Amino acid sequence: MKKFSVVIAGGGSTYTPGIVMMLLDNLDRFPLRTLKLYDNDGERQAMLGDALDIVMREKAPDIEFSFTTDPEEAFTDVDFCFAHIRTGKYEMREKDEKIPLKHGVLGQETCGPGGIAYGMRSIGDMIEMIDLMEKYSPDCWMLNYSNPAAIVAEACRVLRPNSKVLNICDMPVGTLRRISHIIDKEPQDLEVRYFGLNHFGWWTSIKDKEGNEYLPAIRDYVAEHGYLTQKEVDTQHTDASWQDTHKKAKDLLAVDPRFLPNTYLKYYLYPDYVVEHSNPDHTRANEVIAGREKTVFSMAKTIIENGTSEGCEFEMGAHATFVVDLARAIAFNTHERMLLIVENNGTIANFDDDAMVEVPCIVGSNGPEPLSQGKIPEFQRALMYQQVTVEKLVVEAYIEGSYQKLWQALTLSKTVPSAKVAKEILDDLIEANKGYWPELH
Ligand code: NAD
Ligand code: LMR
Repeated sequence: MKKFSVVIAGGGSTYTPGIVMMLLDNLDRFPLRTLKLYDNDGERQAMLGDALDIVMREKAPDIEFSFTTDPEEAFTDVDFCFAHIRTGKYEMREKDEKIPLKHGVLGQETCGPGGIAYGMRSIGDMIEMIDLMEKYSPDCWMLNYSNPAAIVAEACRVLRPNSKVLNICDMPVGTLRRISHIIDKEPQDLEVRYFGLNHFGWWTSIKDKEGNEYLPAIRDYVAEHGYLTQKEVDTQHTDASWQDTHKKAKDLLAVDPRFLPNTYLKYYLYPDYVVEHSNPDHTRANEVIAGREKTVFSMAKTIIENGTSEGCEFEMGAHATFVVDLARAIAFNTHERMLLIVENNGTIANFDDDAMVEVPCIVGSNGPEPLSQGKIPEFQRALMYQQVTVEKLVVEAYIEGSYQKLWQALTLSKTVPSAKVAKEILDDLIEANKGYWPELH
């Protein structure tokens, strides 16, 4: 079998060790010849890089491993770039979450004003990285799961329409694991129909390979328990705040009991509930800093001090096998069916052609072929149109340096009550994002 060269961009990410362990566990399906880590924060990169160097020497000495902050070294001779960067890191995530809350509006990484702020920071870095990839390895594919994926995907559509970038999200993957567990199946036994935007969609059918429909049975369960399951089958979304989100899915379902909702709809359908249940002094960023980030970096320190990973192993990011499935689909033309964020072009019949939507696709060597999802109901169509327009306005605001358009984007977000509040939040966000956002006029 061919062996591949992979660079993980955002090599200092809390997710990197889990992804590396997952790749080692999948070498029979996706063999590696080279694995590189790339980050623009040398200190963060060295901490995880040194620890993973020890792990790689112990577990896979045949794979050439390195880590770097030099783009040329990182992007030369690579087949795939797995991208999970966070422009501004946790320091800025905290501000994305806390600034809106100060104004009585929810603060979230990808939804509402926080997502807009993060989007404005990410676009430039993502485009720069795509250009570096194309300069040093023109045939390389970027599999991007950096957030905010919806805004990043729209920016790619507008600014780099011909680049080999696939945007994918792990939320539907995690929820499908829960759904499978509810009906005592494995995710790979199921074929789904789904429509929406990233972090904004609905499952309309869940069938097994024989064509039996399970949606009514799952709906009965979700109406009572949300997506909470007895066994923790979705290893990614486990913290206390996530358990609340899985449970809240039952209230999302109540709004339209025909379809199974994506958990992130909570921020758009129940923003008042989210604000009431938020602590403006302790948000999700603080939960991750004290949890995942601390665990991962202290484990790296221990491995470096011990000079071995024996007795102290990074946890495998089992949830992330979808990245390998996607890489395999391209590398081996497997025609895997996966949810991806792609340009609509008629896939949802009564929605704009130029909207970036999240739908099932068949993925092969030429990339994704979206599967037609037909017409969608007016309620969802209207919600989606409002949200996709927010995302488009953010990208336009970034390109044009337009204060007006960014103010409109915030005003249009279903999470923000008025143009007045939108302006107050925007002015605070501009101050906080100095040096990250383009100058607005
Ligand atoms: P993190 O802050 O721990 O890691 C991000 C890393 O990216 C940092 O080490 C940072 O220095 C680096 N970075 C920032 N800008 C860079 C650039 N221009 N070039 C190279 N490196 C750069 O964050 P995290 O919590 O581990 O999350 C990483 C990313 O993955 C985020 O965007 C997060 O939202 C995303 N994520 C996506 C999914 C999904 O399925 N779509 C799921 C979980 C997390
Ligand atoms: C994370 O930090 O885990 C995110 O990227 C998603 C979340 O859990 O908030």
